[in-house]
Amino acid sequence: MGRAFVYVILGGGVAAGYAVLEFARRGGYSRGELCIISEEAVAPYERPALSKGYLLPEGAARLPGFHTCVGANDELLTTKWYKEQGIELVLGTKVISADVRRKTLLTGTGETISYKTLIIATGARALKLQEFGIQGSDASNICYLRNIDDADKLVSAMKSCPGGNAVVIGGGYIGMECAAALVTNKIRVTMVFPEKHCMGRLFTPKIAEFYENYYTSKGVTFVKGTVLTSFEKDTTGKVTAVILKDGRHLPADMVVVGIGIRANTSLFEGQLMMENGGIKVNGQLQTSDSSVYAVGDVAAFPIKLFDGDIRRLEHVDSARRTARHAVASILEPSKNKDIDYLPFFYSRVFTLSWQFYGDNVGEVVHFGDFTSSSPRFGAYWVNKGRIAGAFLEGGSREEYEAISIAVRRKAMVTNMGELEKQGLALAIQE
Ligand code: FDA
Ligand code: NAD
Repeated sequence: MGRAFVYVILGGGVAAGYAVLEFARRGGYSRGELCIISEEAVAPYERPALSKGYLLPEGAARLPGFHTCVGANDELLTTKWYKEQGIELVLGTKVISADVRRKTLLTGTGETISYKTLIIATGARALKLQEFGIQGSDASNICYLRNIDDADKLVSAMKSCPGGNAVVIGGGYIGMECAAALVTNKIRVTMVFPEKHCMGRLFTPKIAEFYENYYTSKGVTFVKGTVLTSFEKDTTGKVTAVILKDGRHLPADMVVVGIGIRANTSLFEGQLMMENGGIKVNGQLQTSDSSVYAVGDVAAFPIKLFDGDIRRLEHVDSARRTARHAVASILEPSKNKDIDYLPFFYSRVFTLSWQFYGDNVGEVVHFGDFTSSSPRFGAYWVNKGRIAGAFLEGGSREEYEAISIAVRRKAMVTNMGELEKQGLALAIQE
């Protein structure tokens, strides 16, 4: 049993959605030549909605409202759109092995699907507590958040304990965004993480302090510098408390876990070159096999702005842009330049909203007002006398654009004291 396609996109997440739109815009295939194979039961959607609009107590986002590519204010690709475009959606189908030399994929249903060109867009999976040796972490009120099934489980857990207690494990993106959503749903939150402050991969202690104070003012309790060791459960197997390494018991009606991800590379290990936990690609998003491309969270690609340093980014803008770039490379290889990507991360919680551009390396200079009720503050990272990264909370569209340009241009800094005084003005004057 088998089917043959010219182009196969493996994975049906954000990158897949933006890749097919690019194929359609460029008229790059004939009907029946292009397919998406996805383990998920639904067409590609904007994953960031799962920790934001999807969790709202009222007027929550639901499909088909947030299929790609609405997150970039572009067309909404419903299943009808795929039919009209002659793009095959092979949903609810897991690929269990890949043979790059033979150009075939084997699905869990026993079908062999062959391709001429493959785009790997398998994204990542959430790390599980079991992987850290924590027993009993498969209880019905322990929630992870990577896909729509996880989000539905989280919503029903929230609905089952109005006014109750949630313990959030992890102080990264999922932890911060889910804690805010839980508070909005009137659930009391305790956040537990091993670091000294939240968002340790990006925030400076000063930036983190602002958000932690803000969350505290919303009723969130922080338990920092420790980890959980086990759970207390009732007779039905539901978690009733989280037990920490320092001996404390935290009562819990539900638990949300966000302790990082691993890129889904396993199908290709030993077949394609890997780097930084991802599949290594060149500036055209092409892997070590010329018929295979990799995009999104799974791809480790060269960042020109960082002198060609190979990075694997775990953010939606990178997924969208690498996907489009790969399709342009496939369809017009001679015309397409190497990708020149400016890393861009953002988050929105409560009424707050921040953006970050570039790389958080070097010396940090903070600026702006960290204390007002409508805060507007930020930071520059200065490396080798130039702006390497910039963070801004509460900015306007023009201000965010200005900091992005300052980073892109690697604006020169001669005097750190002056930079602190100038703050946002430096970017705006650029
Ligand atoms: P993505 O994970 O979207 O898709 C991978 C797809 O591959 C899935 O459909 C999966 O089922 C499928 N797949 C994997 N293995 C398979 C196999 N063997 N067979 C078949 N199918 C397979 N970023 C940001 O910049 N701002 C934000 O606000 C947020 N918010 C956010 C919230 C939440 C809850 C999450 C989980 C993530 C974010 N992100 C984010 C990160 C962002 O969503 C992420 O970077 C992109 O979804 C990556 O897109 P990909 O297409 O690479 O992977
Ligand atoms: P993360 O890497 O942002 O944070 C992981 C956190 O796990 C760390 O901050 C740490 O506090 C904690 N941790 C690690 N080991 C632990 C342990 N043993 N016990 C307790 N805590 C531990 O990962 P995440 O928050 O799980 O997010 C998953 C993915 O989703 C990331 O790729 C992220 O980029 C993406 N995401 C992005 C956004 C956004 O960009 N706004 C929003 C949501 C999710």
